Amino acid sequence: MSATRMSRSLRLGVGLACTLNLLAAASPSAHAQNSITGYWDLRIPVGDGTSRETFFELNANGEAITGRLLSRGPHGIPLAGTISGSAVHLVATPPVEAGRTRPPMIFDGTYQGDKLTLESKNRRSEISKGDAVRTTKEAALPPAPLPLPVLRDLPDNGLVRTPPMGWNSWNKFAGRITDADVRTMADAMVSSGMSKAGYVYINIDDTWELGRDSSGNITTNSKFPNMKALADYVHSKGLKIGIYSSPGPKTCANYEGSFGHEEQDAKTYAAWGFDYLKYDLCGARDVYTLSEATERGLYQKMGEALAKTNRPIVYSLCQYGDFDPWKWGAKVSGNSWRTTGDIEDKWASMDKIGFSQIAIASYTRPGHWNDPDMLEVGNGGMNADEYRTHMSLWSMLSAPLLAGNDLRTMTDETKSILMNGEVIAIDQDPAAKPTQSLSKDGSVETLWRGMQDGSIIVGIFNRGDQSAQSGFAWATLPGGLGGKKVQARDLWKHAAVATTGDRFDTQVPAHGVTLLRIASTRN
Ligand code: GLA
Repeated sequence: MSATRMSRSLRLGVGLACTLNLLAAASPSAHAQNSITGYWDLRIPVGDGTSRETFFELNANGEAITGRLLSRGPHGIPLAGTISGSAVHLVATPPVEAGRTRPPMIFDGTYQGDKLTLESKNRRSEISKGDAVRTTKEAALPPAPLPLPVLRDLPDNGLVRTPPMGWNSWNKFAGRITDADVRTMADAMVSSGMSKAGYVYINIDDTWELGRDSSGNITTNSKFPNMKALADYVHSKGLKIGIYSSPGPKTCANYEGSFGHEEQDAKTYAAWGFDYLKYDLCGARDVYTLSEATERGLYQKMGEALAKTNRPIVYSLCQYGDFDPWKWGAKVSGNSWRTTGDIEDKWASMDKIGFSQIAIASYTRPGHWNDPDMLEVGNGGMNADEYRTHMSLWSMLSAPLLAGNDLRTMTDETKSILMNGEVIAIDQDPAAKPTQSLSKDGSVETLWRGMQDGSIIVGIFNRGDQSAQSGFAWATLPGGLGGKKVQARDLWKHAAVATTGDRFDTQVPAHGVTLLRIASTRN
């Protein structure tokens, strides 16, 4: 039966709206009257002549629908739903694997005549175009796994002895990022003063990929006509450039991944002149069953491939903190590893991620960094107090500082947060000492860490929704400063703080922070 093409619109969790085509090949058992039963190929054009695909196998029995979402997981993801009149509701529920639960994917839409229209809020349903229309489940299922290397400890690549600083396209641009944006972002990195403040890497995230040429070389889509020229341009500004891929056949946004082409892709990145690779697990989970050994093996494979290029390429692992990558990330020559799922530009998300990091802070060390995800500062979903907390916390954690906003249109307030040199100095302190909890007082959580020069940082964070009074007695200061004569500086007010009296007390705004650097006075 011939495929039927329809157009529609898919709204993604990141606020993108895409037009997509849906193609259906009804199975032989399809009801005569345009039954929804069959294989459905959801195609989302991204405007560059390509599209991404998601496959549904649907079986209708009266109003009940069962089936599978075929392009996720080695066996697809079971789904169930209803068709009531023309209204369709589908829920694909990923099975619990290795104790890990993934949220259900929900699709709502209509089926009328022979047209199925679906909307999903799930970001990972973001798709662009492919040429072939695959209408059987065999074609839609992911390939068989490839052998993984025997696990061994790879050498340290010697890069990023202090946390990497730069910019990444995903938080603000997601699938809309283009060559022109990257160039103008590099311009803005310099003209805004960000590069002087220490930001170096301009990192292209997902959605630059097209497919493979006849020799298997990765190709770029029309948003990125010439990667070598782009890298040359970024380098000409005195900056470095990063790229993105996945160990799976598909990336998180369903673009071409490095599966089976690891060495070839690493060579290509080196030939283009890339200095940084973010390697994002996603699509590998369509092929491999979850386990620590598998994930480590996949990352080792690319670690070995990068080493063979002989180009210094920072290696950023992204598998959302599963299987404790802080324990093995350095062994695959990783320079950083994501410790959590994706950040959102919302207080609840940043707060949850940020404060969950204290427990693993001791795993971060020069060249090997815990990565609680990129910054949202300046993206508009949080207020200035919340963004100051974000920047303070990430710096206390020695997190990579990868701005995720539009550097071309920053307000003075955003600049004052991202370019606060006294806060950046915490992040970049070469000793990279772990941040620890000092005290908890209602909604106020006070953290501290030591600095290489013997001073300490104290962050009084108010996680509550109301302004709160808090403080400490000077005699109780940690880091060997308790009872000593000290001087203190407020790193957001850029002003000295009186150290006379027994205590320091301050009013901390809701979701805000008072951040101090305290040193003993030498007199
Ligand atoms: C995952 C990653 C994000 C981003 C997207 C791109 O969700 O965690 O940081 O790279 O994929 O598709």
